[in-house]
This record gives sequence, C-alpha cells and structure tokens, in this order.
Amino acid sequence: MGKFEPNTYAIITGASSGIGREIAQELAKKQLNLILVARRRDRLEALKKKLETEYSIKVIVKDVDLSVMENCVRLHAETIDYHPIIVINNAGFGQIGPFDEGSLVKEQAMIAVNISAVHLLTRLFVDTLSEGIILNVSSMAGFLPTPLMATYAASKAFVVNFSRAIDFEMRREKRRIRVLSLCPGPVKTEFGLVAHGRETGRGIDASRAAKIAVRGIEKEKALIIPGIQMKVVHFFLRLLPTRWILTFAYRLQKNK
Ligand SMILES: NC(=O)c1ccc[n+]([C@@H]2O[C@H](COP(=O)([O-])OP(=O)(O)OC[C@H]3O[C@@H](n4cnc5c(N)ncnc54)[C@H](OP(=O)(O)O)[C@@H]3O)[C@@H](O)[C@H]2O)c1
Repeated sequence: MGKFEPNTYAIITGASSGIGREIAQELAKKQLNLILVARRRDRLEALKKKLETEYSIKVIVKDVDLSVMENCVRLHAETIDYHPIIVINNAGFGQIGPFDEGSLVKEQAMIAVNISAVHLLTRLFVDTLSEGIILNVSSMAGFLPTPLMATYAASKAFVVNFSRAIDFEMRREKRRIRVLSLCPGPVKTEFGLVAHGRETGRGIDASRAAKIAVRGIEKEKALIIPGIQMKVVHFFLRLLPTRWILTFAYRLQKNK
C-alpha cells in the first residue's frame, strides 16, 4: 500500500493549531482521510468541516487530553481499526523561563505530552500496524541543552533519539514501518503564546514546515529539518563545544 493511497487514514495529534493543522491540510490535498486529535473540539470540528467540503475526504475528530495515558490507550484502541498508514505525534508544548521559577504542574504535563504520549502511541502503533509511517515531531532544541527551556529541550532530545533508534531497529528487522523525526527551528504558531504568554513572530510559516514534513514522509527521510538555515545550524551544533552551545542557547532564550 502506498503512503498517500487515497482513502487511507492518517492520524495527526495537535491538529487544532500550528504545524499539526497545516499538516492536516497538506494530507487532505493528497486525498487522505484524517483523524484529528487535540483538546479543543470546536477547532477540530471547524477544520473537519473545511477539509471535508474542500477535499471530499472523511474526517474524524477526537478531543483527547494526551497528558493522560489512559486517553492515549483509548485513542489507539478507537483508531486502529481504521488501519492508519500515517501516524503523526505532533502535539506538544514548551515552557520558557528559569527552571526553579516555572510551574511544576505545567512541566510535568509537558513531559507527559511530549515524551510519555509519544512513547506510548509509538509503541502501540508499532505493535499493531503491519506497515506505515510514524512521524514524531521533535525540534532543533532537541539537539542542544537549552538553559531557560531545559525540560522542553530535553523532551525533544528524547523524541529525536528515541525515534531514530526505533527506525534503525525497524529497518534491521525488515519491518514495513518507519519512525521519522521532524526537527523544525522556530515556526510561527501558538507555541510562544503557550510557552511564555506571547507570540515571538519569528521563524518560518507553519504551512512551509508542514509541506516539508509531508515531503519528508513521502521520501521516508529519517530526519527532517525544515530550511537550509536550520540544516547549517544542525551541522555546526555537532562541531562546537557544549559550553559554547550552552552560552549561545542561554542568550537566545534570554532575549525572548
Ligand atoms: N513553533 C515552533 O517554533 C516549534 C519548533 C519546533 C518544534 N515544535 C513542535 O511542534 C509541535 C506543534 O507545535 P506548534 O508549534 O504547532 O504549537 P501550537 O500551535 O501551540 O500547537 C500545539 C498543538 O498541540 C496540542 N496539544 C497541546 N497539549 C495537548 C494535550 N494535552 N493533549 C492534546 N493535544 C495537545 C494543541 O491542541 P489543544 O490545545 O487544542 O489541545 C495544539 O494543537 C510541538 O510538538 C512543538 O513542540 C514547534
């Protein structure tokens, strides 16, 4: 079965806004049916209506809080019979500020959504799909320890390393499942609003990030880094001493 076989299903978490919403539009253009997941049902319903009207596809809406692991288990159980060919673990958020001043409750929820839900859903779909693509959304922050955003960056380091390792295993075992990572730099979404209460206005458009993500899925690229600028940053991050990276990352976050 092809990746973009019309009428097959794709699941996208965090589809109510930003990158997830734009990926949904890109996959709808390719005539995939969609299962849209997030907490804000009104937004998902509005997107469902738009995509069904514009592209004549089927869209299912699931309002789920992914910080609760029972909900992730239920989401998998309720969607596996649609035999999704693409699963995109995109839902996530950050918190910017000094580690000892931020909300502990928010950080624990962040770990649940950014790490535990991605871990659990990846495992459940790897166990039950015979073929398909799982795209886990990490970040450029996953490549560097980031003062003033320590937990978020570490959560994204988990996502990229976890996904790359499993992808290697899948290929070695000749399974017809790929586990890809998307690592964007700054993207204009509601991320800044959630992370520190204001939009940064920096970065590429979410629609551009989504187009690159979908092209990456098409080509089955293990590591998808949108934009030449971020590819260059990624290259240099591997060469520079960690101390320099820490100072650079600290200044970058402080300016926010
Ligand atoms: N924007 C950037 O600069 C950037 C850069 C690199 C990586 N990323 C990553 O890209 C992904 C998408 O973020 P975005 O930039 O598009 O931000 P966004 O516009 O804030 O979108 C985040 C999405 O995650 C969903 N979400 C958050 N908490 C959830 C929960 N507990 N349960 C279910 N869904 C939840 C939100 O939906 P509800 O609020 O409706 O639940 C929303 O749809 C994230 O993983 C983020 O870390 C973003």
